[in-house]
Amino acid sequence: MTPKANLCIKNIGQLATPVGSSARKGKEAMGALKVIEGAAVIVENGIITFVGKESELPSALPQGCKVLDAGGNALLPGFVDSHTHLVFGGYREDEFQWRLAGDSYMSIMERGGGIAKTMQLTRSTSEDSLTESALAHLKAMLSMGVTTVEAKSGYGMQTETELKQLRVTRRLQEIQPVALFSTFMGAHDIPPEYKGRNMAYIEYIIEDMLPRVKEEGLAEACDIFTEKGVFNHEETIRLLTAAKEMGFALKMHADEIVPFGGAELAASLGCLSADHLLRISDKGIHDLAEGNTVATLLPLTAFSLKAEYAPARKMIDSGCAVALASDLNPGSCFSASTPLLMALATIYMGMTIEETLTALTLNGAAALHRADRIGSIEVGKEGDFALLRMPNYKFLSYHFGMNLVDATIKGGVVYRNEIEQE
Ligand code: NIG
Ligand code: FE
Repeated sequence: MTPKANLCIKNIGQLATPVGSSARKGKEAMGALKVIEGAAVIVENGIITFVGKESELPSALPQGCKVLDAGGNALLPGFVDSHTHLVFGGYREDEFQWRLAGDSYMSIMERGGGIAKTMQLTRSTSEDSLTESALAHLKAMLSMGVTTVEAKSGYGMQTETELKQLRVTRRLQEIQPVALFSTFMGAHDIPPEYKGRNMAYIEYIIEDMLPRVKEEGLAEACDIFTEKGVFNHEETIRLLTAAKEMGFALKMHADEIVPFGGAELAASLGCLSADHLLRISDKGIHDLAEGNTVATLLPLTAFSLKAEYAPARKMIDSGCAVALASDLNPGSCFSASTPLLMALATIYMGMTIEETLTALTLNGAAALHRADRIGSIEVGKEGDFALLRMPNYKFLSYHFGMNLVDATIKGGVVYRNEIEQE
């Protein structure tokens, strides 16, 4: 349920937004924000109909239009978290402590922990309880200015549980305001039933899962974990080619743990995005810059795994379209903190705050092929905003790690962050 309303926001100290309806590529385009001081916007039935100086506001506002006073603070597009594993059962807090003590993500995975552990827990958790815990994450994300979230399946790895996860995502869309983009990720790992028989598992996905997902309209994209020791190139090509033929957009977890030529493959298959890319090669950077695949970077995961960050600076300087997302999941990254994400991007990855904002709005939207509808504050786009409690966007990196969002606006409906006393 994404309600739509009429709204006029006045007294905006600074409105800052990227501009356009496709991904912004490279340093100049990613760094170019449109900034209006003393701005106002009008939203009619959920869609932006006016953006400009408050002095130029039309005298007659739409009927029944609520007016929000921004108090001289900054208004930004709603944030787009274009990579999460939102729906899952149980937790893996012990693994996190093991990793802090020196264990590696892959060695825990090889011992049957990791994704396989969450798979067991997700299989045995009811739809109601999966919905309840995902809902709590979405509420927290909304309070940090996030208005669109991608959610992957991939903790079932058998048809029934994959469908269960995707149905939870569909149900979540009906009961809360954050817009969801659903991705099917049956190829998240090899389930124990298919251990050592990767291609047989891929065929099972193609024959059994994908048609059901398609039939019920449960996902727009298909993702795969292409990684040494998980799915190789041949298996990736087989799955993604079949998924493309069935009308799914494609995504890929690429070059996360070791260099594996994932970015090159994602570009050649025409993926919407290649995600992670901590170990991307120079050729991979070149191929993404040449093509239309968004490079989605997930700094919270690198932080959590104590891995080296993706080479964001080099990628942007080479002409890539970089998006930033949380990767929220119960293992490698149990956080969806937008404030921490922006701090890591600006302080450790060498991204400017302007590039960071573009990456978290318009380029995130492009990674979900929604850049024509969301990701910027422009007439015709959806009325999704993050209203800060600070006068300009630069505070996002300066006052780091803090939630500076005072209100999140989705489709013209205002969700305020109030400090409540019980
Ligand atoms: O994006 N790399 C694979 N998948 C997830 C981790 C999932 C998990 O650990 O449960 C990721 O980091
Ligand atoms: Fe992921």
